[in-house]
Amino acid sequence: MENENASKRIEELRELLNKYNYEYHVLDNPTVPDAEYDRMMDELLKLEEEHPDLRTEDSPTQRVGGPPLEGFQKVEHRVPMLSLGNAFGEEDLRDFDRRVRDRIGENFSYVCELKIDGLAVSLIYEDGRFVRGATRGDGTIGEDITQNLKTIPAIPLRLSEQVSMEVRGEAYMPKPSFMKLNEEREKNEQDLFANPRNAAAGSLRQLDPKIAASRNLSIFVYGVGTVDGKEIDSHSDGLDYLSDLGFKTNPEWKRCDTIDAVIDYIEGWSERRPDLSYEIDGIVVKVDSLEQQEELGFTAKSPRWAIAYKFPAEEVVTKLLDIELNVGRTGVVTPTALLEPVLVAGTTVQRASLHNEDLIKEKDIKIGDYVVVKKAGDIIPEVVSVLEERRTGEEQGFAMPETCPECESDLVRLEEEVALRCINPKCPAQLREGLIHFVSRNAMNIDGLGERVITQLFREELIHDVADIYQLTHEQLIELERMGEKSVANLLEAIAVSKDNSLEKLLFGLGIRHVGSKAAKTLAQQFGTMDSMMEATVEDLEAINEVGQKMADSVVRYFQNEEVHELVDELKAAGVNMTYKGPKPVSVEDIDSVFAGKTIVLTGKLSQMSRGDAKKKLEEQGAKVTGSVSKSTDLLIAGEDAGSKLEKAESLNIEIWDENKFVEELAK
Ligand code: IVH
Repeated sequence: MENENASKRIEELRELLNKYNYEYHVLDNPTVPDAEYDRMMDELLKLEEEHPDLRTEDSPTQRVGGPPLEGFQKVEHRVPMLSLGNAFGEEDLRDFDRRVRDRIGENFSYVCELKIDGLAVSLIYEDGRFVRGATRGDGTIGEDITQNLKTIPAIPLRLSEQVSMEVRGEAYMPKPSFMKLNEEREKNEQDLFANPRNAAAGSLRQLDPKIAASRNLSIFVYGVGTVDGKEIDSHSDGLDYLSDLGFKTNPEWKRCDTIDAVIDYIEGWSERRPDLSYEIDGIVVKVDSLEQQEELGFTAKSPRWAIAYKFPAEEVVTKLLDIELNVGRTGVVTPTALLEPVLVAGTTVQRASLHNEDLIKEKDIKIGDYVVVKKAGDIIPEVVSVLEERRTGEEQGFAMPETCPECESDLVRLEEEVALRCINPKCPAQLREGLIHFVSRNAMNIDGLGERVITQLFREELIHDVADIYQLTHEQLIELERMGEKSVANLLEAIAVSKDNSLEKLLFGLGIRHVGSKAAKTLAQQFGTMDSMMEATVEDLEAINEVGQKMADSVVRYFQNEEVHELVDELKAAGVNMTYKGPKPVSVEDIDSVFAGKTIVLTGKLSQMSRGDAKKKLEEQGAKVTGSVSKSTDLLIAGEDAGSKLEKAESLNIEIWDENKFVEELAK
């Protein structure tokens, strides 16, 4: 066929195939027999083969899965992918509703949606074409899984409008596909997937896209990350817009005007949950209006305008076989229950942390007991209680040892702590746990260097401290169990890549007590380099808003240690980056505004702007806006109908402004 005719026919076939695909996989309403679809696909494949210049990335032929990748690229999300706060019962939901009403008044509605139990993904479209898809990763940086996502027929490769946007959704494996997959795996004597979520995640994290293509995955999209040139007023309008563009949204969502209506929706779905052809693990409740969402804003971890109700955990009975002791990174010795393996909420459980001796006494747990086990938040196994009526008299009580199970140093109980600690800084268990922490996702994020490999390297004495990781060689790694040429190459590459991490990842990875990942970011931002971080005094540190005395002391004490200096020098010599690479904070002293450096609370209704906008403007001018009035509040801005916060501010003699005064000062 000539080029011109071929081009016309190719376009025709693509449009028809896209339409049939949409009808089948999004609308669940096929209009042509499979054979007809296959015939057209063959024709298109053939034409594209004859005219390679007419091939495009968004052609339906591109779904079949191209050649395997070497590894996944990391990609930074344009807008962080946050997670949601959880509600475990009616009381939590009513608390959430109260918090929302306190901030935005009574005039709003919720949207309730099913919480799909799959894998969160971000999809990027440019001019209506699917260009990239990524996993959530740590929320800031995910992995590029475009090739795998393209194999999901419910993801449109072209939209009905030429918009540029980011869309978020949950990729999942339908229950029947999961059952079939596991049946096949059983036949082939392969390991079974514990649940559909793991199966979906495992399929999308395969380097060979043909595997994902064979796994029958689907997706429900539930939100717009960013969109160019389109005004959307509410989440529900957003969902309608997504459907119009050709996406598969979940049809069961519902607008609810009151929290009672939300609770009814939840009760309904708690019963109907088994009838669905896909797994859900809860219900997501969102404030519908986007303006009100903005007004509510975010906490450090999650939006204030939404919450995830989690279905109650399944409880099962099993036998507690023994109690094992583990020494953690900070030397805390934790007792762990070893259980007779039992299936809970889709996965097999054989261990559960018992936290500390007090808890064991409180629950009167003995070795040999039959115990009730559940998964807290459906993730972490927990021993709920003991079935005393099933005791035979053979059970044995448990007491914590006096010495460390790893290094035999005396254990100590620090003031005000329930935990017992090994305080030997050279305790091998602590060193190993410290290494595992260093490579973990929120720290240096070194793929391929998990607990198993670290333990092997440590046992073989190839690594003693974190700096040794950067001295590992091909010859050493290839000797380890289950390590091939490819995994060694990938691992060395991942180690090399981690050298370029921004300073906060390293700071968090060092495992300084009281310095979590968020605090590490604040410190890196404030000090900019490891050298100035190491010179910081307690006063310098305490001058930072988010840093309290405990953290300040701990940081200074950590960097006083000569061995830490040696370690940092070794890391430097290995080429590990020692500077902060993110956006620079503006110092409050540089801002010429009455609001700079003040702690401010907003309350009541503002008439000239939303509370969200007011907060943003104040923060731009260097203020810290908090939710409740306390002694450290410098100023209260009170709109109309201000209530208890106004009273409290009056009683604490805090300066109070009305909206007019606020707007006047803002304009200066
Ligand atoms: S909204 C800011 N809606 O649940 C976060 N999430 O912690 C907005 N999920 O990681 C998320 N179904 O992967 C939203 N209908 C739904 C969802 C949903 C499943 C997942 C999502 C997220 C987690 C919430």
